[in-house]
Amino acid sequence: MSQNTSSAVMQQRSEPKRSLDDFPTPPWATRALCEALKENGHDLSSKTVREPAANRGYMVRPLREYFAEVKASDIADYGHGWAIEDFLFPYQIEQVDWTITNPPFTLADRFVERALETSRVGCAIIVRSAFLEGIGRYEQLFRDNPPALVLQFCERVAMVKGRVDPEASSATAYSWVVWVKGQTDTRQRWIAPCRKKLERADDYAAYREVAA
Ligand SMILES: C[S@@+](CC[C@H](N)C(=O)[O-])C[C@H]1O[C@@H](n2cnc3c(N)ncnc32)[C@H](O)[C@@H]1O
Repeated sequence: MSQNTSSAVMQQRSEPKRSLDDFPTPPWATRALCEALKENGHDLSSKTVREPAANRGYMVRPLREYFAEVKASDIADYGHGWAIEDFLFPYQIEQVDWTITNPPFTLADRFVERALETSRVGCAIIVRSAFLEGIGRYEQLFRDNPPALVLQFCERVAMVKGRVDPEASSATAYSWVVWVKGQTDTRQRWIAPCRKKLERADDYAAYREVAA
């Protein structure tokens, strides 16, 4: 039987509903967000940021290049020393300026709500671009809480289970969706090709060492 490669099928990243969704983000994609935030007038260098689903730190490390302080935690222990915390558990946590993450896909709406409660400036999540559609999500999230910016990658960001792989390819399109408090007039922009400029050879080598 031939493989069904229709775009509807290729867009799916099939994971059991209760899975941790262990798909780390290649570091260049986080640098692309930080560069876009800077271009949009945000001074990050004096700000704090929380990465509440820090996993193996592939997002934590590039965030440290741009922010004054990065607070990292995850619900699971990946052996990197972050605090083990369920971001959605409603205990009081310290306010930060920004929350930036790649949340588990099925919990992304709840991550945004929690991030906005606990961040002074705003939050950003990287999601499959298909996240933007759907009546339920419109009614529960976007209608009353429109993002300030939708940043569509024109290059593919390849995410694979449990690791980052510079050779991986993907049929899935990704966007950063950015909420900034007080900015409800959504602007859509493209992230111009930037992988070549923002990717570093040691992004992958160094992280393999840490994970070993
Ligand atoms: C898609 S991975 C992203 C990892 C990391 N943010 C990155 O971009 O490299 C999702 C992560 O969410 C974590 N996670 C799942 N549910 C969570 C929760 N309720 N609170 C905190 N972290 C959670 C998983 O353990 C996993 O590390």
